[in-house]
This record gives sequence, structure tokens and C-alpha cells, in this order.
Amino acid sequence: MSIQFHEQTGIFSLETAHTLYQMKTDKTGVLLHLYYGKKTGGSMDYLLRFTDRGFSGNPYELSGNRGYSLDTLPQEYSGNGVGDFRLPSVQVLSENGSRSADLRFAGYAVQKGRAPLEGLPFVREAEDTETLTVTLRDSVIGLDVQLQYHVFPSQDVIVRSARLINTGSRKLRVEKAASACVDFLYGDFDVIHFHGRHCMERMPQRGALPRGITVFGSRRGMSSHHSNPFVILCDRHATENTGDCYGCMLMYSGNHAEEMEVDQAGATRLVAGIHPDGFSWTLAPGEAFQTPEALLSCSGDGLNGLSRHYHDIIRQQVISPRWQHARRPVLINSWEAAYFDFDAEKILRFARAASEMGMEMLVLDDGWFGKRDDDCAGLGDWVVNEKKLGCTMKELSDRIHDLGLQFGLWFEPEMVNEDSGLFRSHPDWALTDPDRKPMLARNQLVLDMSRQDVVDYLFDAMCAVLDHAKIEYVKWDFNRSIANCYSHALPAERQGEVAHRFMLGTYQLLERLLSRYPDLMIEGCSGGGGRFDAGMLYYCPQIWCSDDTDAVERLEIQRGTSYGYPVSAMGSHVSAAPNHQTGRVVPLKTRGIVAQSGTFGYELNPEKLSDAEKKEISGQIEDAHRYAGLIAHGDYYRLNELDDGKDYSAWMFAAKDGSEALVNLVLTHVRANGPFPYVRLQGLVPDASYRLEGTDRTYAGAALMYGGFSFPPAWGDYPAHQLHFVRI
Ligand code: GLA
Repeated sequence: MSIQFHEQTGIFSLETAHTLYQMKTDKTGVLLHLYYGKKTGGSMDYLLRFTDRGFSGNPYELSGNRGYSLDTLPQEYSGNGVGDFRLPSVQVLSENGSRSADLRFAGYAVQKGRAPLEGLPFVREAEDTETLTVTLRDSVIGLDVQLQYHVFPSQDVIVRSARLINTGSRKLRVEKAASACVDFLYGDFDVIHFHGRHCMERMPQRGALPRGITVFGSRRGMSSHHSNPFVILCDRHATENTGDCYGCMLMYSGNHAEEMEVDQAGATRLVAGIHPDGFSWTLAPGEAFQTPEALLSCSGDGLNGLSRHYHDIIRQQVISPRWQHARRPVLINSWEAAYFDFDAEKILRFARAASEMGMEMLVLDDGWFGKRDDDCAGLGDWVVNEKKLGCTMKELSDRIHDLGLQFGLWFEPEMVNEDSGLFRSHPDWALTDPDRKPMLARNQLVLDMSRQDVVDYLFDAMCAVLDHAKIEYVKWDFNRSIANCYSHALPAERQGEVAHRFMLGTYQLLERLLSRYPDLMIEGCSGGGGRFDAGMLYYCPQIWCSDDTDAVERLEIQRGTSYGYPVSAMGSHVSAAPNHQTGRVVPLKTRGIVAQSGTFGYELNPEKLSDAEKKEISGQIEDAHRYAGLIAHGDYYRLNELDDGKDYSAWMFAAKDGSEALVNLVLTHVRANGPFPYVRLQGLVPDASYRLEGTDRTYAGAALMYGGFSFPPAWGDYPAHQLHFVRI
């Protein structure tokens, strides 16, 4: 049993393989958080200190007890306006204008497994999953909050969410509903968050968490390039392989906030969920609101240790079982090869060359539908432009399949151009403010996915294309942030619901398409990695990591992404040199090694390749096949510390059973008479011997891990090494 309740002490214990999470319902019915960290055994309530702090008041029923304050005790899910002045987890406006919420314990239930969430992505049940539901109640306003805890012992992950139910007879307006709140009694934490921009996503930034409130998040209607819904709190001295680290990852693709507060006594609160700015949700009596899930994890083995927990839970319980073990096809994408300028003959020439080199799928990107020869028109009109192609989509798909390739198509379902048949017939289907000109971005508007008629239209339009031709893959794009988030189908008082209803509409469309086409692979995309989150990964086993395909930039982007997400989810392609985003020239070998640490593919014009390059690419594809299992399912280690100023970037994969390892190193700055990179390997069996493939040399696992490996000097721009060690 990973969940236990001790009646006498009121303590709930949630145990995973290496961690313990504890909370306690005390005599006032307040649910106090006790502990989250490495497994300890026994009850942790001795850590609580009851003290009288000035300006931290006391619950009325305890008048006289100045040592008990909601403001100084660790809360499991903080209320609002009743004495805890730190970040609230919930804010609800009652009909009388009060925003107070005072939550007290009202019951609990434990079950094996977990129930799916309706309409939202969720972490799929594992064999050993158990669920605890604790009900907290404010009987004055008639609000129940059901806190859900799904324990995943093998992956050391606890998944939390909250369900708010209006049990009273009056309307409630929810203005904030966090997915999770975690209080730490003390900390001195560093916080790491993942900021970025288009073409430079998920850049880790680490710094001391200051006193007061720190908020990261997105109000762009998407999880965003700018701030990923994932934060890490870690020991000030934590490194990649040592120290305590805590992660909180939201399984959500819309507006989100990760709020942290270090209080008067140095205690730290983390509250994460849908961004409260602009959010509201009206609950009529009997109605409920379900928050997205938050994936909490804790590791005593540094940042690499924490990342491995997230990689495992995402690979094993988030990604659809359909794709968990399937090797992903090596694809060629037409975007950087042709942009909008193509017809079927050109695409077929690409396909022929790709097939000769061993690629397995051709993806036709933007430009095949409606009046779409640039980004000014056509979005919304998902009708094949046969005139431009010179044939039907079925004919093109059949000829591509005849060449032995699978076929994929690009869509951007949630968007519309003003210059489109769809917008001309349904201007009210776009999110626009009444009486105001909308913001344009990439010349497009956003469809109102909160409307069922819009979702139904898109479903039918996409099915018409997918039914007509054999299509194994869809690239699902989303190329702007949402402004003018106003639905013409909802009354004024419900406009605060639009951003979340938008996400529910998108999730519904994904769900319906996948139930109709269970073998369809959908690759997520949003101008690259603008919606790279666990919510999208539930539907899309891989997500295009960035529109920046420069291998040297990708070292940083993929490394930053790896803190939370497995490489098997990162869309990564070898593109042309000079690179189209930076003009940088990187050797083909290096481009191949970098793209191989992702879902491998190509995005270049194969007609421009020399014979030598074609031969090298065939070799890369053979290598990618050979290492596919190790890369997709092995343990991933970053071998550089964050911002260590080294002239190289190194990372490796170790088979979970220690049987082999693949070490990669790219020199980002070659120096005259420079030092040799010495890198300590990870994840090997210390007393086993490993042979370096291609040589007769063997090394003890311990030697490679503790003594390290030195790489020879190299010459030229951005050379790369790849070493394969096999246990003997
Ligand atoms: C986005 C994607 C690109 C490409 C273009 C097409 O920017 O990230 O990969 O599909 O759209 O318009």
C-alpha cells in the first residue's frame, strides 16, 4: 500500500520508491502539510512549531490560543481571506461579494488505480497506482474541494489535482483554483524555471528564491515558448548529480502560473495551476470544476535524478501506449526544403531521394490547402489545393507510399485567416473583442475553440482530408498567442471561462481524432516548441522542439527541454548548412548527432545534397536505427553542469540495465592548444567492463564514471564525438 491513513494521529502518508509525502488533519480540521522529501519512516509532525507571531491571527474557535495560526502553519491547500496571508490556492466569489474560503477536512477515500479525467489530459494509470481523495469543505459558502493524489510509486511521482464542487444553493464564481500547493517548512531554495522566446525555448534560469512572491507563467492562451509550465526548487548546492530537487510540472497547454512565496519565517510555498489573471468560472449549485493535473516529483540525486523521474513518467504513463514502444519513423519535412513553393512533382522528387537514403516518411508542411501560397491566407479552409499540387492528395499519397514512405500532413486547426472562406462565412467563429479591431499575428486570428460548432467543423474538415488519402501522421501547429480572448457565444459574465474552454475544445478535437484514427501519429508544434507541455504530450508522442534548427542552438534548446521532458518527445531534424535561422555552418556529422538525440528526421532539400552527403546521411540513418532503443528508452544524463562555461556540450544515454551507453560531445568552441574535455560518465555498472566500440580497449565502469574519459583535441568548427560503450 503506498497510501496510508493513521486514524489516531490523523496523518496521511503517501510513499513512492524513494520519497514520502505526509499531511495531517488536526483537531481544527485544517489539513496541514507535514513533509515531502526522501523517505524517512515514521510521522513527521514533530517538525511543526506552534508559535505566536505578531500580525498572524488565530481561528475564532481557538480564541485564546495565539500559538495557532493559518498564517504560520504549512497548509495542504491554502484557503483565502481567513487568516493565511500567503498565496491562496483557491479564490471563490460568493453572491454576497465575499471571497473568503476556509477549508476544513470532511473525509477521505483511497482507491486502487485512478479514474480518468474527463475532457482533460491525465497521467495514465500504472499497475501500482493508488489514489487518495481528501475532501475539504467550506460549509458557509457551500464549497467542497476534493484534493486528488495519484501515487506512482515506481516513478517517484505524485500527481495532484483539485475538483471544486458547489454544494450550496447559490452561484459561486471560481477566480482561482490551483492544481497543487506545496508548503516547505524551510528551504533556502534555488528556483529553476524555463524561459525563452520563439526559436529559443526552455532556457533554464537558476537563482536564489527571494523573500516575497515570485511568479512565472503564461497569459498567452498557450503554455508558451516564454515560460514552460515546469519549475524546480532545489538545494542551493544541488548539482546535476547531487542534492535534493523538487519539480512541479503542469499537464496543461493554456494559461498557467507557478507562484512561489518565501514567508516571514523563511517557509516556502509553491502554488501552481491555471493562471488566475482573467480567469473565472461560474459554478451553479451542483456543478463542479476540475483543475488540470500537476506532476510532483522529488529526487535526492540532483537535477539529473529529477529529470529521470519526469522522463520515465512521461514515457510510461503520459505518452499514448500506442507509441510507447514503437520506433518513430525517420522523416523528411518539406518546410525548410521548399516553404510554400512546391507542387506534387517537387514533393515526389524529395520523396524519391529521401527513400533512397533510407528515410521512412515524407511530411508535407504548410501550403497544401485553400489559397495558401504565403502566410496571409487560407487557414481554416482545409480543402486540398489540387490546382497547386497538380493532382489529388490521394494520388500524391499513393505515389509516396509506392516509394516505400509513409505520408504526413501539416494542419493548424485552431487558426483562421481573415482571407479565407471560413472567416467570410463565420466571422463570429474567431476570438475577437466586440467593437474593436483584433490583434493580428502572422496575419491570422484564433478560432473560438470554446464553441462546439467550431470543434465539430474542424473535426469534419480534418476527417474529410484524412479519409480521402492514406495519412499516417499529422503535424499540429499553433502559430500565435491568443489576444482578444472573447467568445461571441458566451455571455459577459462567462468571458473569464473562454481561455480554459478553448483548451478543452482543443483537447476534445485531439481526443476525437485519435479515437477515430488510433494509429495516427500527431506531432505537436507551435511555431516550434510553444506548446511543449505534458498536456500536449498526452495526445502527441512528439513535439517539434523549436523552429531554430541550428544544431549549435539546439544543444541549448534540447538540453533545457531535457530537464522536464524525454528526448523521445523532442522533434529534431538535420537541416541545411548554412542554417536558415542563424547562417551558421555546422558539419553534417554534428547536425546528425544532435538531431539523433530527439525524434530523428531531416528538413532540407535533398536535391541539393552531394553524393558524399547522401552517403553520410544513409549512415546516420543506420546509426539512428541502431541506437533508437537506447536513446528512446535509456536513462539520459546531462554531463555538463548548468552554465559551467565549458567549451563543449556533452550528454549520454545509459541502458537501464547498464548493458550499453552512448556518449555524445560537441565542441562549441575549438581553441588552439586548448584543454582536453574530461567527462565523467554516468549510469554504468561500476564493476562491469565496457568495450569502446570500434576499438579493442576495455574500461571498468567505475573508471569511466569516477576517472572519466578524455576526448582528443579536434579541429574546425563544431566537431562532434560519439562513443558507444558495450558491456562485456
Ligand atoms: C511553424 C512551424 C514550422 C512550419 C511553419 C509553417 O512555424 O513551427 O515548422 O510548420 O509553421 O507555416
